[in-house]
Amino acid sequence: MNLWYTHLVRPLLFNFSPEWVHHQAMAAMKQDAFTAPFSSWAEETTPELEVELWGLKFRNPVGLAAGFDKDAQCLPAWQNLGFGYAEIGTVTPRPQPGNPSPRIFRIPEAKALINRMGFPNNGAEAIAETLRELKRQQRWPTIPIGVNIGKMKDTPLEEAHWDYLKCFAILHPYADFIEVNISSPNTPGLRQLQNKKFVEALFVPLLARREELKLKTPILIKIAPDLSAAQITEMVEGGLDLGLDGIVATNTTRDHSAVALKETGGLSGRPLTHPSTEIIRLVVKESEGKIPVIGVGGVFNADDVQAKLDAGASLVQLYTGFIYEGPLVVRNICQGLLAKKSGA
Ligand code: FNR
Repeated sequence: MNLWYTHLVRPLLFNFSPEWVHHQAMAAMKQDAFTAPFSSWAEETTPELEVELWGLKFRNPVGLAAGFDKDAQCLPAWQNLGFGYAEIGTVTPRPQPGNPSPRIFRIPEAKALINRMGFPNNGAEAIAETLRELKRQQRWPTIPIGVNIGKMKDTPLEEAHWDYLKCFAILHPYADFIEVNISSPNTPGLRQLQNKKFVEALFVPLLARREELKLKTPILIKIAPDLSAAQITEMVEGGLDLGLDGIVATNTTRDHSAVALKETGGLSGRPLTHPSTEIIRLVVKESEGKIPVIGVGGVFNADDVQAKLDAGASLVQLYTGFIYEGPLVVRNICQGLLAKKSGA
């Protein structure tokens, strides 16, 4: 089904550095004409796959995970390639270069990646300008767009809430939902924000600002897969108390036991499929299904999506699956989901 990509294109691309290939692919996908040929199937609406959440309509449950289109360069492409929604970011208040290269590593035998990007991005103002321009050009996609926000590398944890507030203030006009990233392993100390005290310190001002602005933009939190069951319970309780709109489970893992490669960073892809599904299951159980969950981690095919939906996720997302399965990944997943629904 996907043989031209997995047998021809992927082996060719894998001769080059992951980041170089990423930049070439993004440069190509910036041209709408490059992805337009894929769009005909994507425009066929399939009511069986539609999801309604937070008053938003998702044509299918499969989204692009944060980190792929950090600077919002290719929004029309994600629509053309069939995604049900896409996330941009992680965006920080000011531009930052991220960690030195190399900082993405492929592990083909495990269908995995390790990355330690460290949030390189153009900064909230420049990204808002890119988004404004897209609207001006009337190229804004019809799929929902999530904005994933984070803190600068050098912002102390006690002041992190200012970074999130600033990103929210600048980017909320372009966001169908906001995702607060406190779970990347590549920003020093960031994961320490994953406890009730810091979560409150972050979200109370953010939710208050949303109230002041009389906005309804859903605000979600993205968590790491490396939390203990007790920490997850704490996060869920905090989320329920605060009235958060959703939990995104999960970011990359620090557990590298499934792979031989020794590189610092977060592991994504196949080794994360099962652990992230189990975290989704736990979040759904602990919240008694009261907080919508977006499932992410090691999604490559319809079975992976179905497992996350069965665990209680309302939507899913993927990043590494796109690298290994190619531009038809969403189409193949949607066809697989439809086949499951019809009992084929
Ligand atoms: C990521 N991910 C990520 N997440 C996030 O919240 N902000 C980010 O900037 C990034 N950046 C990023 C870069 C690279 C190279 C990768 C591989 C991943 C994590 C991503 O959104 C997702 O949570 C995990 O990768 C797990 O999903 P997959 O890749 O197994 O489908």
